[in-house]
Amino acid sequence: MIIYEAKDYKDMSRKAANIISAQIIMKPNCVLGLATGSTPIGTYEQLVEWYHKGDLDFSKVTSVNLDEYRGLEKSNDQSYDYFMHEHLFDKVNIHPENVNLPDGMAEDAEKECKRYEELIRSLGGVDLQLLGLGHNGHIGFNEPGAAFEKETHCVNLTERTIEANKRFFASADDVPKQAFTMGIKTIMQAKKILVIASGEDKAEILKEAFFGPVTPAVPASILQLHNNVIVVGDQAVLSKLTNKDEYVTNADYRK
Ligand code: F6R
Repeated sequence: MIIYEAKDYKDMSRKAANIISAQIIMKPNCVLGLATGSTPIGTYEQLVEWYHKGDLDFSKVTSVNLDEYRGLEKSNDQSYDYFMHEHLFDKVNIHPENVNLPDGMAEDAEKECKRYEELIRSLGGVDLQLLGLGHNGHIGFNEPGAAFEKETHCVNLTERTIEANKRFFASADDVPKQAFTMGIKTIMQAKKILVIASGEDKAEILKEAFFGPVTPAVPASILQLHNNVIVVGDQAVLSKLTNKDEYVTNADYRK
């Protein structure tokens, strides 16, 4: 694991965008696993800026998103499909037929999960998976307790996640109760994983996830067992890693 310390959110976003750019430059037809949420917004902004400068070309890139709410139309401004178009897809030259998300409106959940998993497989797997970190250690919608061996599946959202996400909806009642998500197994099969995190409120969970025991109670902790993980965090989120000896032995920490 490599941990890059960024000064602040902007610097984190720039560093993460640099890693994604390097992936696209080294393999123009790569498969990017993408995430939504507040953390990656700055990263996408930076990628869009570099695209406009002529430094990046998405024309051969394929994307697969981590997750999608169940029951929201693509046109709903809270759907992850909408988010991705708003922040990235509509602003760069990625081909519309090369962007993929689970279909939140699929009636047969099991069939949809199977389709998505097979799609990822048929693309040859994910080259670089971008991940945000939930306050309870979730990745995608894999909440504490989720089995490590799961592939894409449909989950019931926990009260905590509904509570955290309600700020985007008119009320907690409007937050969908289910979502499709890549499973931990799907995520772990990505060739490279880039985790981005920022802010003091995630400092404790970041430390637990990367330096605590590997346990389903903290889904992100499984990433310790992946052989190609890069974490980019700002100083605030890395602030709990105070005992240098404790983590320098486990990770390659770069400022
Ligand atoms: C997003 C996702 C979530 C978020 C996580 C952090 O596609 O699957 O796991 O990455 O909830 O969200 P933010 O970045 O809003 O703190």
